[in-house]
Amino acid sequence: MKAWTFDRYGSPDVLRLEDVPDPAPGPGEVLVDIRAAALNPYDWRILGSDPLVARVSLGLRRPRAGAILGADLTGEVVALGDGVTDLAVGDRVLGEVELGACAQRAVASADRLVVVPDGVTDIQAAAVPMAGQTAWKAVHAVGRVGAGDRVLVNGASGGVGTFAVQLAVAAGATVTGVCSGGNAELVRSLGAAAVVDYTVTDFTEERTAYDVLIDTKGTHPLRRFLRTLVPDGRLVLVGGGGGKLLGPATHVLLGVLANHLQRRTIGVVGWKPNAADLAAVIGLVADGAVSPVIDRVVPFADVPDALRYLRLGHARGKVVIEV
Ligand SMILES: NC(=O)c1ccc[n+]([C@@H]2O[C@H](COP(=O)([O-])OP(=O)(O)OC[C@H]3O[C@@H](n4cnc5c(N)ncnc54)[C@H](OP(=O)(O)O)[C@@H]3O)[C@@H](O)[C@H]2O)c1
Repeated sequence: MKAWTFDRYGSPDVLRLEDVPDPAPGPGEVLVDIRAAALNPYDWRILGSDPLVARVSLGLRRPRAGAILGADLTGEVVALGDGVTDLAVGDRVLGEVELGACAQRAVASADRLVVVPDGVTDIQAAAVPMAGQTAWKAVHAVGRVGAGDRVLVNGASGGVGTFAVQLAVAAGATVTGVCSGGNAELVRSLGAAAVVDYTVTDFTEERTAYDVLIDTKGTHPLRRFLRTLVPDGRLVLVGGGGGKLLGPATHVLLGVLANHLQRRTIGVVGWKPNAADLAAVIGLVADGAVSPVIDRVVPFADVPDALRYLRLGHARGKVVIEV
């Protein structure tokens, strides 16, 4: 099969399109014939070892042998490993792998996959796994957003933000989105009641008090985020910011410490894919309550360029690869 591999850390220039053997599913896994994959900041962070701590999972000097880019995928199950009973050959599924989605086939844990509902396209389904699940956790598990809450989403036009705005609106919240002026109309169309153009206004200087702030960008120190919240408000840290060594983990560590020093709650959205969250989001997509926002669909041959584009940090929703 064809796959976008890398054997050293670096820019998208280090990616190689190679012929590699099909992987074989182990116990609890399935082999998926991939139809579409989506890119996430996770991919350029892993590939570029940015921050350096990202090397811990893949190898300190070099990535582990046979590393293939990509986490989000949708496709057809073509083989089952031992013990898989919830999926069958021929099922159309979506889900997340740690590595391997930018390829013609990948092995995935069956418990991280969900069957794609009828009426949802491959491109829509591929856009959902990492960004959709992260937004779901941010809004529900960590943010505990409920009807009537005032919610601010920082980075509202990005992969996670476009889902977070829609999920918070679906939960009955009044949502303010932060993005540049060119994306204001998009964010309003997702249900945001108000938009703050960060190139003109610093939302942490405004008087509005939010119940929940979902931050996907790490644009401000934590104390500036906290002062936008009501006294029992919740700050939800998704990503962004930080230095070369720890990256977004810097905010996470500071947040854990700051939790003990003041009244507002600081919660962190961790990377832990699970089928229940994924099923909830794709169910809302099937019902029409949530629409994945697709910035662009690019051919398989253009994965490095698509990653360069995403790395610029201004994608409107998701960048999807047609495999
Ligand atoms: N915790 C987890 O499990 C998890 C999972 C997924 C992602 N993440 C992290 O979450 C972060 C966001 O991911 P993503 O997929 O949403 O990224 P993304 O799609 O690359 O974000 C792009 C968006 O960011 C907006 N943006 C850029 N600068 C901004 C600023 N100063 N203020 C507000 N918005 C700004 C851009 O809007 P404009 O073009 O209008 O500027 C653009 O629409 C990443 O750091 C990622 O690593 C964490």
